[in-house]
Amino acid sequence: MIYLDFAASAPLLPSVKKELFRAFEEEYSNPSSAHKLGLSSAEKIEDVREVIAHSIGAYKSEILFTSGASESNNLAIKGYVLANKKKGKHIITSSIEHKCILSICHFLEKEHDYEITYIPPQQNGIIDAKDVISAMKQDTILVSIMYVNNELGSIQPIEVIGKECFKRNIKFHVDAAQSYKKVPIDVDELNIDMLSISAHKIYGPKGIGALYIRDLRETRIQPIIHGAGQEYGLRGGTLATPLILGFGTAVKDQTIEENFEKINIINSFLRSKITKIGGIINSPDINYIPHILNISLPNFDAFQFVTSSDFLCSQGSACSSLNIEPSYVLTAIGLNHSYSRASVRLSFGYNTDINDLDKLFFCT
Ligand SMILES: Cc1ncc(COP(=O)(O)O)c(C=O)c1O
Repeated sequence: MIYLDFAASAPLLPSVKKELFRAFEEEYSNPSSAHKLGLSSAEKIEDVREVIAHSIGAYKSEILFTSGASESNNLAIKGYVLANKKKGKHIITSSIEHKCILSICHFLEKEHDYEITYIPPQQNGIIDAKDVISAMKQDTILVSIMYVNNELGSIQPIEVIGKECFKRNIKFHVDAAQSYKKVPIDVDELNIDMLSISAHKIYGPKGIGALYIRDLRETRIQPIIHGAGQEYGLRGGTLATPLILGFGTAVKDQTIEENFEKINIINSFLRSKITKIGGIINSPDINYIPHILNISLPNFDAFQFVTSSDFLCSQGSACSSLNIEPSYVLTAIGLNHSYSRASVRLSFGYNTDINDLDKLFFCT
């Protein structure tokens, strides 16, 4: 089997696996305990907090551990807007965000009377920053835009949007699940106030992620999980020491950066092959990460391919790929139902071998 579904989840790096085994064996105490073992685990956890903070230009005190990007998105958006209702009840997001952002927004619309503006993408899957800026109003409390779209790989104009949010004193949240470690992120340069990341997208373990919150101690956030005071009282629950340490190893490892050029070559190779056989490339041809390639092929039953082929990939995003509805992201970029149903998302990782891809039946 050939794994082409790294955007859904990546396998563990050998270095991460080693650290996980060590930590599950040795770091079994509660990191909140006052004894030597607890203190030693707590110290290692703080080192990982520092490593993550450093990787995005933040302070250690601004990083919270969560179970992944879905939870980070929930804590960022619900946590911020529900604790600051008086600042405004209008939120701007895009219509091609990950399902979890859309679900949070629908919840806020329905249960808390927030007004949400969903900015549609341009035909290439890239949001026009001008559309976001012109939707900003007096009572806009938050803008939430993903850095890289999970179905198309399109990179969104985060810097321009961040600058405008800063000027107007609007909080800016970025879902960076698909972009972290693939595009450089400096939260100060980009004026990002909250950033969600996930370990399993960067070859770390599943079930662990982080949320960056600028000036965490001075920002009012409503907890989503009430607990015994862990994570500044914002996210209760005993910290998952082995998962955090595995996450830290994945962040420190240079594998993603080192393999960037190789993945670029794979992406270009497939783009040219697919176009030659009459397929279309749904991913943009500018401003994209090479790790994700969305394509449609003539007379192609994508569902059949995804569910039975030895090439493991997704139809749309993995979380919704068993959904028979056409992908809302592909619909948003103007693809009709038949093209949408004939589309697959291929996503590549450090050990994807270009020679294996020659065997993809549509490439021969
Ligand atoms: C853009 C984006 N946001 C959020 C998520 C959810 O991440 P997690 O599985 O860590 O909750 C994903 C995962 O597919 C994603 O691609």
